[in-house]
Amino acid sequence: MKRLSLLTLSLTLCLVINFRALSHSPLAARNGMVVSSSQLASEAGIQILQQGGNAVDAAVAVAYALAVTYPQAGNIGGGGFMLIRLADGTVTVIDYRETAPVNATANMYLDSKGEIFPEASLRGAKAAGVPGTVAGLCLALSHYGTIPLTTVMKPAIDIARKGFPIGLGLSKDLERLGADFKKYPSTARIFLKNENPYHFGDTLFQPDLANTLEQISVSGAEAFYRGPIADQVIKAMQQDDGLITHLDLAQYSPVIRKPLTGTYRGYTIYTMPPPSSGGIILLGVLKALESDNLSETGHNSSGFIHLFSEINQRYFADRAFFMGDPDFVDVPMAGLISQEYAQHIRRSINVNRHTPAREILHGDSLWLARYGTVLPESDETTHFSVVDRWGNAVSNTYTLNDSYGSYYVIEGAGFLMNNEMDDFSIKPGVPNIYGLVGGKANAIEPRKRMLSSMTPTIITKDGKLFLILGSPGGPKIITSVCQVILNVIDHKMNIQDAIIAPRVHSQWLPDELVIEPLGISDDVIQNLSLKGHSIKKGSFMGEVQAIQVDTKRGMLFGAIDLRHGNSAVSGY
Ligand code: DON
Repeated sequence: MKRLSLLTLSLTLCLVINFRALSHSPLAARNGMVVSSSQLASEAGIQILQQGGNAVDAAVAVAYALAVTYPQAGNIGGGGFMLIRLADGTVTVIDYRETAPVNATANMYLDSKGEIFPEASLRGAKAAGVPGTVAGLCLALSHYGTIPLTTVMKPAIDIARKGFPIGLGLSKDLERLGADFKKYPSTARIFLKNENPYHFGDTLFQPDLANTLEQISVSGAEAFYRGPIADQVIKAMQQDDGLITHLDLAQYSPVIRKPLTGTYRGYTIYTMPPPSSGGIILLGVLKALESDNLSETGHNSSGFIHLFSEINQRYFADRAFFMGDPDFVDVPMAGLISQEYAQHIRRSINVNRHTPAREILHGDSLWLARYGTVLPESDETTHFSVVDRWGNAVSNTYTLNDSYGSYYVIEGAGFLMNNEMDDFSIKPGVPNIYGLVGGKANAIEPRKRMLSSMTPTIITKDGKLFLILGSPGGPKIITSVCQVILNVIDHKMNIQDAIIAPRVHSQWLPDELVIEPLGISDDVIQNLSLKGHSIKKGSFMGEVQAIQVDTKRGMLFGAIDLRHGNSAVSGY
């Protein structure tokens, strides 16, 4: 099995400032490839591929392995989206996003004066939505997999039981968050070593989680939603003021959706429809950029960054107003991704001057309606991409929302619950942890899915698989995925260079243009300030895990993103 040396890529990341002068090589393989946020999880996926499993089998193995080795985001207590493209060209989405519990109400995180209870939507049992991961993975396997659940879950169960060495990233987290975890005894029991932090190189054993996974591997989703694990969840919820009931778990159901589809310079893009905002914004931004010659504008030039930022601001304004769970609100999807609307957005941009956020309004829904009716049902998250030897591909992003979710472990079951309720607009106009604002379309309602930014994406060229990618990063997911696509298609970078290249981000509110700490020159920053942007040097954005496919040569090229030091590609 091949794998890209962490050291080689760390060095290249250190040199990111000079990235234009360097070229970085992705990992090449022929038969199958997995890129994820954990070496052990990527290897678990390859193991399943080598046993004859297809990309969906491997994806399920990777997802369960990440729930063990990457507890900050890998999960069984959260939710996400899986985009699958089969070798025959069929593309489908499994939406296993969490839902609001039946007893949730629009104002559940507000006091009698309408003020937000601090942290109520973020920490503890009450921050959790009804988890979808186990149901989603089981559905994926039963519809598209070829090997038994017990086989695909074995690597995860083994790692949980036998333990694994704690890497640098995890040890830093566990040291930093020790005091927070102590507030929840069930969490401290798992992620602290007798009340003290674990350190780099210690072994993390998770016997409770191993037992939980074993029950799922034998009885499937039933064990989680109606069986003994459900009992553990409900007992914990009753004890700690959580809202999730037996009914919520029993009625949870993943949804099979049609992907959102668009084109960009002759490539076909398959991506996430609502309840993610990611696909609409991605397709909209690409369409609005299509009339510009971006290689002439120049990669990360002030001209490009200005244009990119202005376009994103406008689509993010639409996100705040129009987008929510499509089973509850009519999202004018067709209008928002239409060419006419993209042209309208492009025309509204002054190439010399930033439009302040207060002057940007969401699109007019009547105007949007003219161009298309509502389509029929068609710092931590983690993404992984998988391709098998037959050309089946999976692009999966799933999450607990914030790193380690609600910090709340289900006693005896060994897994963290999400804090996805914070992705709802808990009070209109008040930003969530990602600075995103929203309104009625994304207000809390029982059984509703909270709006997401996750953007698992698959791109084809002339009907052939070309690129599989996605990222964590809250709203920065959308801009990170978009920039990698532009780097490959417009700037002809190889996938590794495309991922290493410095990124920028803007999202309407707050009214700022965020740039990564390295790699954007001072001249460019000055030009952008002169155009009226308020520039904020942020931290690294996203963690794109991607595979590029060269069907002519029968090669797979896998690339990792070392911005957060976890990414790992394996191929064979
Ligand atoms: O669904 C969403 O958009 C968020 N819950 C994702 C959170 C995330 O990506 C955090 N990662 N850094």
